[in-house]
Amino acid sequence: MHLTGEEERALDGEYGEALGAAYRVLVAVGGLLDAPRLIPVKSAHVSGVNYANMGDAGLEFLEEFSREARVSVPTTVNPCGVDVWSPGPYIPGSFLEKQRRIVDAYLRMGCRESFSCIPYESENRPPPGSHVSWAESSASIYANSILGVWTNRESGLSALASAVTGKTPEGGIHIEENRRPGYQLIVDARLDDPIDYGLAAYYAAGKTSAYTISFQGIPEPGPQAAKQMAAAIGAAGSSSMFVISGERLKGVDVDVFSGEQLSRLRMELGGPLEVEGSIVILGCPFYGLEEMRSLSAMVEGRVARVPTFLQTSKSIYGEAEELGLVDSLSSSGVTILKGACYTLAPIDRWIGADHVYTDSIKAVHYMRMRRIDARLASLREIALLFT
Ligand code: F3S
Repeated sequence: MHLTGEEERALDGEYGEALGAAYRVLVAVGGLLDAPRLIPVKSAHVSGVNYANMGDAGLEFLEEFSREARVSVPTTVNPCGVDVWSPGPYIPGSFLEKQRRIVDAYLRMGCRESFSCIPYESENRPPPGSHVSWAESSASIYANSILGVWTNRESGLSALASAVTGKTPEGGIHIEENRRPGYQLIVDARLDDPIDYGLAAYYAAGKTSAYTISFQGIPEPGPQAAKQMAAAIGAAGSSSMFVISGERLKGVDVDVFSGEQLSRLRMELGGPLEVEGSIVILGCPFYGLEEMRSLSAMVEGRVARVPTFLQTSKSIYGEAEELGLVDSLSSSGVTILKGACYTLAPIDRWIGADHVYTDSIKAVHYMRMRRIDARLASLREIALLFT
């Protein structure tokens, strides 16, 4: 990969060890992508925040790196493992203390206090056509597919390196040719809700490694369905983008997804509705105001029979508070988490739950990988757990 003289000097550590390390990460990634050069990015979104994933090694790295490193472009960050602003009494003190140190390290580097996996709904919404460097697969796939932004599915480390240098290798989905579909799923099924859209996407992502997936036979997804699709693709495969095509494509691999396959997949990921030993986790990806409004309307005047958690960002929480949604959901027994992802934290162990209900395919996928009995349920089914 060609580097400018300035980039060479930065790589050699002339402007500090942290910047040199960041350039070394980008050169290594650029080599894997066969990128000819580095290009500037408009923003970065960094994952690697949840202490449940990071562990002590990640915490130590961040504390060391953040002594010197500073971000050079607007940078948002993924959720924590717990709500560090109002943690529940069941959160172990050592987890909370370490999570707060991770938060401090990111803020020291100049990252925005976003702690959200849907940065595009408030803190980080680059104009279409911008090249960015975003980790968090659901966010980067959404950015490519819906916002018209260009980003590879970065790792936490490569996005952090881009945040510090302001650059990314010009490879992968930053190349126009890779944004053309390399696979098409013909959907011969009626998609009734965002979960159905997510299931079609989950199926397709497991069948291909093409950068871009085309879906034929479905209407343009609304924002909630698009979030489900992006998250499901991120969980099940390596693709970076999806498009909705009016026509069948020639010269690409094709599969058909029938109504029967849809029902079967929905049953495989679901399970019977039980109250005893259950909890509910909603908002994977994080809920925005629309999803909060839908839930609030559905459960108004009723109270949750099982511990029910809703994940959103601190800024969306603030807006929801002004709209009265926080009050109405709280009075229905919903605990609203700010900037926290329980999908990846051991909440089942902390509060002794046997099953988790969620309306997120991604959450079921990851929790089952951790041997948690996670069951997919629509919001309508989850509302049955309120009395
Ligand atoms: Fe967000 Fe956590 Fe799900 S980061 S997409 S809520 S796994």
